[in-house]
Amino acid sequence: MDDVARYNIERWQALADADALFTRPALDLDAASAHERVDAEGLLGGVAGRDVLCLAGGGGQQSAAFALLGANVTVFDLSEAQLERDRVAARHYGLDIQTIRGDMRDLSPLAPASFDIVYQPYSLGFVPDARVVFAQVARVLRPGGLYYFNFSNPFYCGLSERDWDGNGYVLKLPYADGAEVVIPDAEWVYARSRQSHPTPARPTREYRQSFSKLLNSLIGLGFALLHVSDSRDFYPDPEAEPGTWAHFVSVAPPWLAFWLRYAPDAQFTNP
Ligand SMILES: C[S@@+](CC[C@H](N)C(=O)[O-])C[C@H]1O[C@@H](n2cnc3c(N)ncnc32)[C@H](O)[C@@H]1O
Repeated sequence: MDDVARYNIERWQALADADALFTRPALDLDAASAHERVDAEGLLGGVAGRDVLCLAGGGGQQSAAFALLGANVTVFDLSEAQLERDRVAARHYGLDIQTIRGDMRDLSPLAPASFDIVYQPYSLGFVPDARVVFAQVARVLRPGGLYYFNFSNPFYCGLSERDWDGNGYVLKLPYADGAEVVIPDAEWVYARSRQSHPTPARPTREYRQSFSKLLNSLIGLGFALLHVSDSRDFYPDPEAEPGTWAHFVSVAPPWLAFWLRYAPDAQFTNP
């Protein structure tokens, strides 16, 4: 295990201990909200009977949603604390969810071509080179299978609402592929925690991934782009106080999300 994995295991244990947002299992889902949570764009159709991998997707949110919709769900995550939240959700709904602990850079515990859908919530930036993960995803997806991932907008990764200087949010970090970026958690990560004074975890340590590297790697592996979103789940408000999250994200969308189809027979070669 390397330092990248060790840091994330400790950080996600601390986030779970503090009852941070991403570690709270979704225990109030019904069919409609489950569908909205994992397929807001309505691209998937029915998932009943499909084999779904929630990759680095522990916490008991997406796994519960897919399982409620009738999918056969496996969660693969580095953090035992996060996987325990998936087990909590599974018991709550009386569903079967398989949990496997491991690093997204090595999916060898999973059989080749064993999933119809790989769903990867925000997590790709926690490793220095996303291409390693993409190659692993291509190995476990069936041809024609779907891959979703969500990641930090690479054009300003590392900028936050704290960077307001009275006129704007000042970009300071170079657009350097693989550069480590340390980002303090936004206040809302701990809001509505069951603890009145949760102890924040060490900051997120992420790695900037250039847009071209990400997309060219996927193209080279035979992924075809189906849908892109830069407007989900962050509640922008241009009228909000400058220096707040709501104002900041109205200036700069923080996350990008992609749906792709694994189509190795239509593989293109990068020039
Ligand atoms: C933002 S959470 C996942 C989404 C969560 N279910 C939610 O809705 O917020 C990111 C996950 O990535 C996992 N993680 C971090 N580094 C990882 C790695 N190298 N391999 C696998 N999982 C990793 C963490 O343990 C954590 O559960």
